[in-house]
Amino acid sequence: MTKIKKPEDLRSHRWYGAKDMRSFGHRSRTAQMGYHKSDYAGKPVIAIINTWSDINPCHSHFKQRVEEVKRGIWQAGGFPVEMPAISLSEPFQKPTTMLYRNLLAMETEELLRSYPADGCVLMGGCDKTTPALIMGAISMNLPSIFVPAGPMLRGDYKGQFLGSGSDTWKYWAELRAGNINEQDWQEIEDGIARSPGHCMTMGTASTMTSAAEVLGLTLPGAASIPAPDSRHAQMATLTGKRIVEMVWEDLKPCDILTVASFDNAVRTVLALGGSTNSLVHLIAMAKRASIPLTIERFDQLAKDTPVLANLRPSGKYLMEDFYYAGGLRALLSRISALLNLDQLTVNSHTLGTNIKNSKVFNDDVIKTLDNPVLPSGGLAVLKGNIAPNGAVIKPSAMEQSLRKHTGPAVVFNDYNDLSARIDLPDLKIDKDSVIVLLSAGPQGAPGMPEWGQLPIPQKLLKQGVRDMVRISDARMSGTSYGACVLHVTPESHVGGPLALVRDGDLISLDIEARSINVLVSEEEMQKRKAAWTAPSPKFTRGYGTLYLKHIQQADKGCDFDFLEPEDLQTPSGEPEIH
Ligand code: FES
Repeated sequence: MTKIKKPEDLRSHRWYGAKDMRSFGHRSRTAQMGYHKSDYAGKPVIAIINTWSDINPCHSHFKQRVEEVKRGIWQAGGFPVEMPAISLSEPFQKPTTMLYRNLLAMETEELLRSYPADGCVLMGGCDKTTPALIMGAISMNLPSIFVPAGPMLRGDYKGQFLGSGSDTWKYWAELRAGNINEQDWQEIEDGIARSPGHCMTMGTASTMTSAAEVLGLTLPGAASIPAPDSRHAQMATLTGKRIVEMVWEDLKPCDILTVASFDNAVRTVLALGGSTNSLVHLIAMAKRASIPLTIERFDQLAKDTPVLANLRPSGKYLMEDFYYAGGLRALLSRISALLNLDQLTVNSHTLGTNIKNSKVFNDDVIKTLDNPVLPSGGLAVLKGNIAPNGAVIKPSAMEQSLRKHTGPAVVFNDYNDLSARIDLPDLKIDKDSVIVLLSAGPQGAPGMPEWGQLPIPQKLLKQGVRDMVRISDARMSGTSYGACVLHVTPESHVGGPLALVRDGDLISLDIEARSINVLVSEEEMQKRKAAWTAPSPKFTRGYGTLYLKHIQQADKGCDFDFLEPEDLQTPSGEPEIH
């Protein structure tokens, strides 16, 4: 460890080291909590931003893990201070945790700014918590390490494995089609989530924790360890030790994050068959670090990045299998020729050093370059007259015969309209129709919920139909699958051309050409636009109004405009503290 900081250089010295009345207050109140001066004097204060709560099952082990993080911090000569933050529990929070991602990012930044933190450990994993914590930490730019929650164990049902989300959608369709009964459905409910930890498919949680590791923000190997595994607890302790060293070394997120490290993260997401949500999150994270990542860059890198992880929803296995097959480092070693291996990581070694000697132990879970799940195109960015600023689709997790498809639109004005009419026996729809949902974007829903895997009508399920082209300005759960065109930008609620599509209009999807178009003349679209009226805002007070006023569109990462760095060169910094 190269120590470049002295105790009096620590940020916390302003709280504890000064000889004035205010620092008297800080010290006497620390004594009130039972700490002696020797517990903290001259030591780095490590804020542990913990997103544990009684309503977040993905983080239910964090009560224990935080003790292991603290143990590491004490051992390394730091002073741990746990700071709870909003939990963003994906299964429970309505309309969507995405409405609150930026709130957690703000909370993280402001906790770090306003308290005597010299460095931080970020504890998250359930979908939005990972990008939110990292966005806040980047903006504050104190030494930071992320502790990924780790995936839960495989689900179990009649001797078969169940995957979070993916198998819920699958068996829900089978129940509606009459192929399984209520008793089966109950057994699936009982067995699909068996332990602490985040979703164990390659959903948004596994995608984003893996991205965090590749970006260099976790200890090597951290993202793949199942939550209940004893090695997860060991990783937590080692993280606590390492953050103390990072403070003395003054190793900060903006020393680690570069254009190349974000390219590595995008490549990794693609090779994993990762979530479409990674576009909004990685773009927002990159911008916080003044790195201009675009949706076009995802598409560019997708063209020569193979999908190697045979994980649901694109493939067969689950995260527990992935860990036993060698985990993320093994996958990275397979695509090492596509990565920039010189990128620095939190352990002060390069990505290349961290993945050296990693091996794949099961070629069916992590496929070889000669026999990939898909040779390229894990994600595809589409453009056209209904998505001038872009939309995204996940070709690895859809019926391949729909890659080029033209069909008549069946339009639903909002989610309530969809729920009310999708199963009506007289709905005019067949397997070639294109289902369109409006008002599901950042402003329209609001919060851009994961409604994008639009349901297939029951009457078509009964005919055996399992995939159709579906279009919306919503997101889709990373655990979902299907020919779902998502994140249509600009969204319909703000007058994007998706709002102008009518029942019966022909819509053409061509993944090879990266296009999505409604086959209606420009003149007719102009006429419809002139007749379009803006709907009223969904919030008139509170946090919701702040959100509506400042939220940006999906292609810009859905961050609040005022949270981006002013000059796109330096993080926000901090005012003088007295
Ligand atoms: Fe928490 Fe899926 S519900 S990660």
